[in-house]
Amino acid sequence: MSLVSIVGLGGSYDGRSRSLAALRIALEGARSAGASVRLFDVRELDLPMYDPALPPPPNALALADAVHAAQGMLWSSPLYHGTISGSFKNALDWLELLGDREPSYLTDKAIGLIAAAGGTQGLNAVNTMEFVVRALRGWAVPLVLPIPRVGRVFPDDGSVDVGIRESLLTLGQEVTRAARQLSLVQITTPAAQAEEQRIDRE
Ligand SMILES: Cc1cc2nc3c(=O)[nH]c(=O)nc-3n(C[C@H](O)[C@H](O)[C@H](O)COP(=O)(O)O)c2cc1C
Repeated sequence: MSLVSIVGLGGSYDGRSRSLAALRIALEGARSAGASVRLFDVRELDLPMYDPALPPPPNALALADAVHAAQGMLWSSPLYHGTISGSFKNALDWLELLGDREPSYLTDKAIGLIAAAGGTQGLNAVNTMEFVVRALRGWAVPLVLPIPRVGRVFPDDGSVDVGIRESLLTLGQEVTRAARQLSLVQITTPAAQAEEQRIDRE
């Protein structure tokens, strides 16, 4: 079995971030499926707003390098005002640093999607993330986890809803399996990549 690397990106500036707690469990699932894992917490990254004129901050470069070297990712965003949070999207914007890598962006990487919602609309954030995955040329795994009422799933006593924990572990395992499969063959051809670039940049 080939060793795959899975990078987790998510969380919020809330010191008790539930989207971060969910991401940690999904990464545990990935590790249990044989992946080496690395976590990037949005709060610790503390990235400035994406600005093409800025020299890339070290944390953005570390994220970009880890993602480029990985075969898959797990994303976990809070649901803010019906969609993904600004800080999470800003972290994704810094993946623009992968635009001139070979292959570019998230080409042929498997991505697992998680949203942590106070209410019930987490799927909005998951769907938004899926648009980004496609724009960055990755592949979202079909199992997605929009977690509703996260306050009850991750109460302040540190416990976790058993069913959601199982789902998160399964998602981490799925992403690892998909990443392993995708890394075995070239899915996106150089011709498709060139066409994508032409359409995007013209
Ligand atoms: C600015 C802000 C906007 C929010 N908007 C929504 C919302 O539109 N729908 C919802 O269900 N929950 C909303 N919430 C609740 C969050 O989804 C919930 O607190 C979640 O735990 C945030 O993730 P985090 O714990 O990782 O920070 C909002 C919270 C904040 C702080």
